[in-house]
Amino acid sequence: MAIDHPFTERLIAWQKVAGRHHLPWQKTRDPYRIWLSEIMLQQTQVATVIPYYQRFLDSFPDVMALAEAPIEAVIEHWAGLGYYARARNLHRCAQQIAAVHAGNFPNSTEQLIELAGIGRSTAAAISAFAFGERAAILDGNVKRVLCRQFGAEGFPGATAVDRSLWTLAESLLPASDIEAYTQGLMDLGATPGTRSRPRCADCPVSADCVARRDGRQSELPASRPRPAVPERSATFVLILHDGRLLLERRPPSGIWGGLLVPPEGEVNQVLANLGLNTVSQRSLPPLKHAFTHFRLTLQPVLCALETSSAVAESGMLWVDLDKAAEAGVPTPIRKLIRQVASARD
Ligand code: ADE
Repeated sequence: MAIDHPFTERLIAWQKVAGRHHLPWQKTRDPYRIWLSEIMLQQTQVATVIPYYQRFLDSFPDVMALAEAPIEAVIEHWAGLGYYARARNLHRCAQQIAAVHAGNFPNSTEQLIELAGIGRSTAAAISAFAFGERAAILDGNVKRVLCRQFGAEGFPGATAVDRSLWTLAESLLPASDIEAYTQGLMDLGATPGTRSRPRCADCPVSADCVARRDGRQSELPASRPRPAVPERSATFVLILHDGRLLLERRPPSGIWGGLLVPPEGEVNQVLANLGLNTVSQRSLPPLKHAFTHFRLTLQPVLCALETSSAVAESGMLWVDLDKAAEAGVPTPIRKLIRQVASARD
């Protein structure tokens, strides 16, 4: 006889004494009832599901009753559970079972997975609980449990990570007691193995848990990687004259809308557009600033004016350098202004 993995053995023993045994869908081997519970539990917590589950069964006691009901009645019973595609798929699935399987639930994972709204993990849960089939589940909670226990790196939503977690899940299946094992995985994810602040002291597999050993419970599973943000760079021309800085009011929409910002663009172009001549130009150290969708490197160039040439352009104004940092300028510009002001002190 095959020997189970220690994780599997401990989980089954724990489930039998400390797991959940009185959930309404545990009192049956009726695949219809088990299927209904699994669909409801896909995105909804147990406590919310229970009353819906009971009302649903009162109105639609078996798969034929559901197949024959109008979709509106099904949706009505779903109202408040959210993710209504589940209700539409549920109805469609009942009709598929009526039409293709003569009203009898198919009794294998391979057949269940062909039906509307039943993915690989849900098919496995149904066939484990209803038929005792040795099939691996892998929903979000189980992924979390396995990533922590075995120190699996990478974002579980990534194809390669998902594939290796499925392989791991398959390799852990017990020789017998698939029901207690499957329920144990769910119970572990629900109680000690929560997403935030897991209760490792109450966990039956914490002794071998890689995340716990390394103090990485909050890092595993890895979060979705942030998409690389584009890098942009822009030159800002800090034009100084008589202790005042030239600022421009940005148009109301777009980046820094409505705020005061030094003129942006290639230095000589900016000066030519404004009709200004400088006595000196000096590049200052660049400054990086992170926006939500890109990172900006600000290249400041400090210019001293030759003469006090009036700037007639609308939207341009001279602001005392000492007051400019507080004059409604964006954060990185404020930093630049402070740098310039302190260099002059
Ligand atoms: N989550 C998904 N399926 C479940 C089940 N059968 N019992 C408890 N929680 C679940």
